[in-house]
Amino acid sequence: MLTGGGDCPGLNAVIRAVVRRAHGYGDGVIGFRDGWRGPIENDVEALTLEAVRGILPQGGTILGSSRTNPFKRDDGVDLVRRALEAHSLDGLIAIGGEDTLGAAAKLFDAGVNVVGVPKTIDNDLGGTDMTFGFDTAVQVATEAIDRLHTTAESHNRIMILEVMGRHAGWIAMHSGLAGGADVILVPERPFDIDEVCARLERRFARGRHFAIVVVSEGALPSGGDIEAVGAQTDEFGHARLGGIGPRLEQEIGQRTGYETRATVLGHIQRGGTPTAFDRVLATRLGLAAMEAAHDGRWGTMASLRSTRIEMVALADAVAQLRVLSDEDLRIADALLE
Ligand code: F6P
Repeated sequence: MLTGGGDCPGLNAVIRAVVRRAHGYGDGVIGFRDGWRGPIENDVEALTLEAVRGILPQGGTILGSSRTNPFKRDDGVDLVRRALEAHSLDGLIAIGGEDTLGAAAKLFDAGVNVVGVPKTIDNDLGGTDMTFGFDTAVQVATEAIDRLHTTAESHNRIMILEVMGRHAGWIAMHSGLAGGADVILVPERPFDIDEVCARLERRFARGRHFAIVVVSEGALPSGGDIEAVGAQTDEFGHARLGGIGPRLEQEIGQRTGYETRATVLGHIQRGGTPTAFDRVLATRLGLAAMEAAHDGRWGTMASLRSTRIEMVALADAVAQLRVLSDEDLRIADALLE
């Protein structure tokens, strides 16, 4: 088993469930350290019942994680194959997001036995209705909005909260709805800065003297109204955290004349203990993945379909990202003043 990509509350619950289910079968499990770096460098650790005791409520991953991708080096696939042979493994359970499961799907095509478990706080993986870690991230972001409300009200300010979400606005939309934000900006719908300011000004004209704006890190302005700071990318081609929030602070502050402050929630929403919902979802996915591995149902991924856990094709996870639908966007619009 390995955990790859950005960490996520609930990873340890998956690891624990896999180990416990394997124990029930009499199967052995080992963990590769730091995502795909583990099999590439043959860095392993024993995963006994003792090793997973007490980890259920812990954030992060006891196996470590990285963004190493075996397909970014010529010998990557061979090294993964060799690591599996060296430890006489029947197959591999890969727990990860877009990059990790993308590599897992390609490895399966190359003849490596793999089962996937979808993970991301961003909730944007295909093939599943929801990912674990999302509920925790929304909880953290909602608490941040609640806290920003009281200071916004005390100082007559516009408070901007930038949350994670490179390609999809799930965290912004759900925390914005739960926290009663006045403006929610998401990557699915480029925003017009003039309209955003006009909406805020209408609110002030109605006698309100503060406002909350929630923005996804990947949200972009339309028509080049403000520099496309959200489009700045890191070495992986991802929108940079802390780009759009502070830029909006400047623009909105200057245009409306209201004191404006931005908070970038950053990795706080990815750390710490998972909610009960995420612990349960992660546990159910881990059990299903281990059952599939035991039965030799390789090339599949454990997924939440409505309220049931089902195995789907691993390739489905990365075939298309799951973004907010027009209906999701309409709900938010209908609620905004
Ligand atoms: O896990 C996905 C994600 O949280 C994105 O929303 C964010 O852009 C990215 O991870 C940040 O990752 P890193 O830990 O590499 O800064």
